[in-house]
Amino acid sequence: MTDPSTTTSAVLRARFAAMLGEERKSPWLAAFADVPREHYVPSFYRQDAQGQWQKVSEGDPGYLETVYSDTALTTQLDEHGIPTSSSSEPRLMLTMLDALDARPGHRLYELGLGTGYNAALASAHLGSDNVVSMDIDPDLVRLARRRLARGQHHPLVLNGDGAQGYPDRAPYDRIIATAGLHGIPPALLGQARQGTVVVAPIGFGIARVVVSGDGEATGRFLPVPAFFMPRRTPTKGPDFATLETQTGQPTTVPATDALDRLKFPLSLALPGYSSCTWQNETGEVTGVGLWTEDGSTATVHVSGKARQTGPRRLWDTVESLASAFPKDTPAREDFGLTITPEGQRAWYREPEGPSWSLPACK
Ligand SMILES: C[S@@+](CC[C@H](N)C(=O)[O-])C[C@H]1O[C@@H](n2cnc3c(N)ncnc32)[C@H](O)[C@@H]1O
Repeated sequence: MTDPSTTTSAVLRARFAAMLGEERKSPWLAAFADVPREHYVPSFYRQDAQGQWQKVSEGDPGYLETVYSDTALTTQLDEHGIPTSSSSEPRLMLTMLDALDARPGHRLYELGLGTGYNAALASAHLGSDNVVSMDIDPDLVRLARRRLARGQHHPLVLNGDGAQGYPDRAPYDRIIATAGLHGIPPALLGQARQGTVVVAPIGFGIARVVVSGDGEATGRFLPVPAFFMPRRTPTKGPDFATLETQTGQPTTVPATDALDRLKFPLSLALPGYSSCTWQNETGEVTGVGLWTEDGSTATVHVSGKARQTGPRRLWDTVESLASAFPKDTPAREDFGLTITPEGQRAWYREPEGPSWSLPACK
């Protein structure tokens, strides 16, 4: 007799693949129809109305329906309750896989194995022998390896800093990152060939570049908004204490521009920045805080007073973006990325337009 949960999974999965295929035809849809997402996400965390994380596991009401919806599923939290691994939104995964323009037989390198679901999709489409995926967390690698084997997929999965790549299987025809990056890691470019397509989250967008030579690549950002868990690297927290001792400098840029209108270009100019807001009793934003991994910190009060400390002047960056984009919200797809051995620059509209150099990443 057939197990009813298997039948339910098959039905939901078929519906899920059809839902993903509503907007466009994709050669990846067969893999989405084939690979059971629940094998890779046997449980996930969901925030309740109070913001507390609750674990939802196989067999819990709504578990399978959520697994087969267009939802990012948080699968790991650190000791502070900050998500550290997840299975991304399937529609975004499909968009990124489509952007790779990968064909069976292409060799793919993934930075960010996580649950292994994306590696399973890639193995189904390209063949396990052509897939290499790395995660910095050894426990995740162990779990994913076991789950992939259960699904008859045997890609090479490795533990380590994915930004270093895996030269033994290079050159790669396609490279995908599923952790947020500040730029394309040079080591990965060194393991590409001419024509390799690289798809990677940078800032609040997804860059797609094509390698044109030694350490050289160029391309544009996809129109979709995206936020990926940042690649794990050592970071410093914000230095609000120093700012409390400063008198603010006047600024004409509204504090909230940093959070909405200028959010995407700011994520290119200050990759990996964090932000927070202060609110009054009625819930209105009264101030905005920004900080970057090197400990640079800025706060801006809605009254128009900015304070800054640390190696980088973060509010100066916001002000220069405000003069480059005085009124509107610039569209993601109008931004591009050019990489040379000397550095990486994100630009607006054309390589000669306004541009920001991305920090060197190792
Ligand atoms: C959004 S999850 C990846 C989702 C995954 N592709 C999947 O299908 O489940 C991001 C992953 O990147 C991993 N990660 C973070 N920093 C990394 C690094 N420096 N090298 C490799 N993996 C890293 C995290 O441990 C996390 O599992």
